[in-house]
Parts: sequence; structure tokens; C-alpha cells
Amino acid sequence: MAFASLLAFVAVAAIARAAPASVTCSDGTTVPDSVCCDFIPLAEDLQSTLFMNQCGEDAHEVIRLTFHDAISISQSLGPSAGGGADGSMLIFPTVEPNFPANNGIDDSVNNLIPFLSTHPTISAGDLVQFAGAVALTNCPGAPRLQFMAGRPNATAPAVIGLIPQPQDNVTSILDRFADAGNFSPFEVVSLLASHSVARADKVDLTLDAAPFDSTPFDFDTQIFLEVLLKGTGFPGTDDNVGEVESPLPFGDTSTGGNDTGEMRLQSDFALARDSRTACFWQGFVDQQDFMSQSFGAAMAKLAVLGQNTANLVDCSAVVPAATPSSGNPATFPATTSPDDLELTCTTETFPSLSVDPGAVETLIPHCPDGSEDCPTVQFSGPA
Ligand code: HEM
Repeated sequence: MAFASLLAFVAVAAIARAAPASVTCSDGTTVPDSVCCDFIPLAEDLQSTLFMNQCGEDAHEVIRLTFHDAISISQSLGPSAGGGADGSMLIFPTVEPNFPANNGIDDSVNNLIPFLSTHPTISAGDLVQFAGAVALTNCPGAPRLQFMAGRPNATAPAVIGLIPQPQDNVTSILDRFADAGNFSPFEVVSLLASHSVARADKVDLTLDAAPFDSTPFDFDTQIFLEVLLKGTGFPGTDDNVGEVESPLPFGDTSTGGNDTGEMRLQSDFALARDSRTACFWQGFVDQQDFMSQSFGAAMAKLAVLGQNTANLVDCSAVVPAATPSSGNPATFPATTSPDDLELTCTTETFPSLSVDPGAVETLIPHCPDGSEDCPTVQFSGPA
């Protein structure tokens, strides 16, 4: 009897040891491992020092960085080509940021590097992906991303040529994503929801922050609608590599304003019309929840490229809450209409959307608060 009790005790003790422990961080958040707790002050620091709780330029740049760090991996070239989501951009700031496809990425690299010293327990790869997740929480409609912690620091920079460019054709873009991480065409289109909160500084050097849709501070489906509209002009000069005409080219920069017209990337234009991706592209128009969830799922895959997830800890609980979508339906911007749609997907019904009133193009605001002058943070650094 005494022996049986002892056996039962040993069995219970073994179960208790095997069960996943949970830890409560000092702010009350429950996490699977204490390593997650270190990300709570990091989130606060990123918000107050860099993002200012806004879905502005500094947040956009870091979201782009999550992609450029992670996609730099190749199954066909092997491990020496790049380690994926490993923070190599921050560890080797004078190498990858100089690649042409990374033009402009130096801002986000220099902005994140100081956090490596102020939060020394956090690796570069974790910092990049966590900062992207925090940045997205400032963009209404964006999902709260999964966040896995524990990426070891990169030991070498990635090679040149692994980041898609806007002048690439659809075949080479899809091939690149498949080679990097077996992304399907649907997942590629899902990831491009990121261009809902995006502006270009380097495609047309005469323009500062040319938006890809009319609502660059909202993670909404306008990008999927507006890229399907007939292009009518360029917001700046018309001979730029990787750019095609957009439907809203008019801005207000001539009189000292900063509102540039909309820019359209050739790659977005092509993906919206190619038979392999057009139905996925069109299928996101006015489908906020579907788009946001699909983006979140594809980002969960992107963020761990090159990592053995068995060695990572799920620290999603420390990602701040998402900002809900405005709930506004997608609308045709003023001066555009259903007649301007260039649809190549014939198996999906296009949603019935209203047209914004007005005889002239609505100017796209330069700042999240609608103003013309929004200072951004720019730390100096090695990149
Ligand atoms: C076919 C794949 C893609 C191509 C060709 C592409 C290309 C570009 C280009 C040319 C820019 C403008 C950069 C500049 O001039 O400042 C840009 C901006 C941006 N991209 Fe992409 N991109 C792709 C996929 C992605 C993905 C998968 C993400 C994120 C998951 C992403 C996030 C962003 C963001 C957030 C910006 C705006 C950066 C800012 O406003 O400063 N892109 N992209």
C-alpha cells in the first residue's frame, strides 16, 4: 500500500513537471515562459520612443523591415545564402541595407539598433519581428500578430538578390516566395495587405512618402480596390523603374504642401491582374476580416522563416492589443467609379461599393492626424 502511494506520488510529480509552466509578468500578463516578460517594457519603449503610438512613417518602415529581413533565405541556394528572420539587417548594418532592393531600409535599421543595447536580453531577429507586430497594433484594422521569441542572432549577412523588386514579373515574384518558404500565391497576395499602410520614398526620388492607397494610415482593403482601377497618371515623374500609372495621381506639393498623389507599383498592378493571383486579390476587396486574418496567418509563417519553431517560445500574449478597424466599407475614391475597374478574375462577383462624392480627387493626407507636417524619429546609425 505504502509502495503504491509512493508510485502515485512520483507519477503526479512527473506530470506536474511535464505540464507547461505559466509565468505571470509584473504587469499581470500570463505567459508560457519568463523570457516573454522582457518584451513588455520593449513594447512600451518602442511605442513611446519610436512609433508615438501612430501608424505613421516609422511604423510603416519597420513593417517593411520585417519582410526584408525574413525573405532573405533560399531553399535552392542553401543556408549560406541567408538565415531568414534572423536580424541580419541589424547585425550587419553596412551590408544588406546597401542592396538596391533595400533602398530606404536604413531608416528602420538605424531606428531599431539602439533598442539592442537598451534591451540587451532581446536578439536582433526577435526585435525586428516584435517591433513589426507592435507597429501594426497602431494601424486600425491590422491583426494582432503571433509572436514567437528566441531567434538566435544572425552569424552572417544574406546574399544580394533575394528581395522581390517592383519591376519583377509575377512568375519571378511567386518563385521567390516559394523558394524562400513555400508561400502559395494566396499567401503572397495576403502579405501584400501590408501595402495598405505603405508609401514610397525611393521609387520616385522627387517624391517624399507617395502612398500606395488613399488611406495609408489604416490597414483596410482600399489597396486591393484601388490597384484594380485604371491608371491615369503618375504622381511625380513618369520614367521610374517599377512604377505604373495610378488612378489618383494628383497631390498638393507645388504650394509647399506634402500631400503627394497615389503611387502604384508595377508588381502590385501585375499581381492584381495575373491569372494565378487576380481572384485572391479581388477577393479581399471590402472583406476586412478575411484580409486581416489572412495577412496574420501569412505573417506568422514569414516571421519564423529559417527558425526551428520547436526552439521558440510563443510570446504572443505580450503583443499589445490591435486597434479595431474603422468598420467603414471600401469605397471608390472621388473621381473613380466601377467603370474604371480592370477585372480579370471572372469567377468572383465584384462587391457593390459606393462612390465617394466630389468632382475632384480627394487629397491623401500626409500625416495620420491629417496635417501636413509630421516629424518622424530618425536615430543616426551605421546603416
Ligand atoms: C512582391 C513583393 C513586394 C515588392 C516588390 C515590394 C516593393 C515595395 C517598394 C518598392 C516599396 C517602396 C519603398 C520606398 O521607395 O520607400 C515598398 C514599401 C513597403 N512595403 Fe513592400 N514590397 C513587396 C512585399 C511586401 C511585403 C510582403 C511586406 C510586408 C509584409 C511589405 C511591406 C511594405 C511596407 C510597409 C512598405 C512601406 C514602407 C514605408 O512607408 O516607408 N512589402 N514595397
